[in-house]
Amino acid sequence: MAYAVDISVKPEVSAHFDEATNTITYIVKDPSSDHCAIIDSVMDMDYAAGRITYEAADALIEEIQTRGLILDWIIETHVHADHLSAAPYIQQKLGGKVGVGEKIMVIQETFGKIFNEGTEFQRDGSQFDALFKDGDTYMIGNMQAFAMYTPGHTPACMVHVVGNAAFSGDTIFMPDGGSARCDFPGGDAGELYDSIMKVLSLPDEMRLFMCHDYGPNGRAIKWETTVGEQKANNIHVGGDKTREDFVNFRTTRDAQLSMPKLIIPSLQVNMRAGKVPTDQDGNPMLKVPINGI
Ligand SMILES: [Fe+2]
Repeated sequence: MAYAVDISVKPEVSAHFDEATNTITYIVKDPSSDHCAIIDSVMDMDYAAGRITYEAADALIEEIQTRGLILDWIIETHVHADHLSAAPYIQQKLGGKVGVGEKIMVIQETFGKIFNEGTEFQRDGSQFDALFKDGDTYMIGNMQAFAMYTPGHTPACMVHVVGNAAFSGDTIFMPDGGSARCDFPGGDAGELYDSIMKVLSLPDEMRLFMCHDYGPNGRAIKWETTVGEQKANNIHVGGDKTREDFVNFRTTRDAQLSMPKLIIPSLQVNMRAGKVPTDQDGNPMLKVPINGI
């Protein structure tokens, strides 16, 4: 696949860190117009209380309104298992199209079964405004962006590249953080290695923006690195690490990880493009499949 790489375009990137889920949300602005996109928004959830609020999303909305920006896209790099998307809330306030990888259908099929969703739950991605295939391009103002298919963490993961900035989703973490887990249904460590190599085949000076950072070894939270830095220093794939090393390491590590706190609500909401499911009376309601995941 020949991707539409153009590192001469330098988008303005502003980051919002969500402390509750260690997620970084980005506003990506075209330097030559007022147009922008949001990548991986967060809806606040107090799962113990069954309560949803919008502090994080309101901060994004406020920034966009204060700067007088026009929101073209609300992008999901994948169906997150650790936080809920605020895409519908943001779209209602600011417009923009919600986009995700076309393999969302695989996720909807898998988790449609696990959550025993009825026939009213469509498994064709129609909850989203746009479904991206590998290499598909789209515009943010005058900037051309493209989606790169990067399965492994999940079957629907995509890295989004805009000029000299790539948004890695959950493929790779900061060099001292390594990589994302591959043990969710449909995940595959070998596929993730191949996807990471695809990302690292972008130009060395490409800026890479993480979806998560956990501040390993007590360091301050960071989210920006470069392809060159990852190739040299990433603790899971950098230097002379082989595919086999990676698969062995990743598989062993994943077996020891506990499930993300918000996986049950996140999947049900995110596979619906951020919409909360409803019960037979139309009230927002979530399920907990026992021993289902
Ligand atoms: Fe994820």
